[in-house]
Amino acid sequence: GNKNIQAKLVLLGDMGAGKTSLVLRFVKGQFHEYQESTIGAAFFTQVLSLNEATVKFDIWDTAGQERYHSLAPMYYRGAAAAVVVYDLTSMDSFQRAKKWVQELQRQAGNPKLIMFLVANKADLNEKRQVHNEEGEQYAKENGLSFLETSAKTAQNVNELFYEIAKRVAKA
Ligand code: GTP
Repeated sequence: GNKNIQAKLVLLGDMGAGKTSLVLRFVKGQFHEYQESTIGAAFFTQVLSLNEATVKFDIWDTAGQERYHSLAPMYYRGAAAAVVVYDLTSMDSFQRAKKWVQELQRQAGNPKLIMFLVANKADLNEKRQVHNEEGEQYAKENGLSFLETSAKTAQNVNELFYEIAKRVAKA
């Protein structure tokens, strides 16, 4: 029969990487050029219906500013899935993403955590600092799935959440 699954999903990554923008694209179909920086964290829900299951996501969109770093464990503990986002126009944000991956691997306490590495702002290809292959390679070495997205054009945004829902439904 059709399963109903509730899944906690957390987004982590440097400030300005586009976490809120990805969630707003997915949940509301919107994009704002002047998206305000998140304070603490923001909470969203969205339901995705698959053939095999209905997945209700409880989405925690964390704040990337360093001063909120200590709050992060509250949001990733108990999560079924984590999306680590970087801005592909910023090598710093890629380095920051790697730190998040390490922290999740050490601290999340969930060997079955579904992890995605997401290179966002794919529409800004002329400003790219991180090659597709670099992100892909790092993800592969660390057992994460990898996607390049654009919250602005919606490239790969639904794909990201559908892929996670499918994995959650299989688990
Ligand atoms: P914090 O809340 O500070 O952690 O940032 P965040 O990761 O949630 O980033 P946010 O979604 O606030 O986006 C930061 C800025 O980047 C905003 O001005 C967005 O409009 C812009 N932005 C986000 N995603 C994209 C994208 O895919 N393409 C382009 N061109 N701009 C984007």
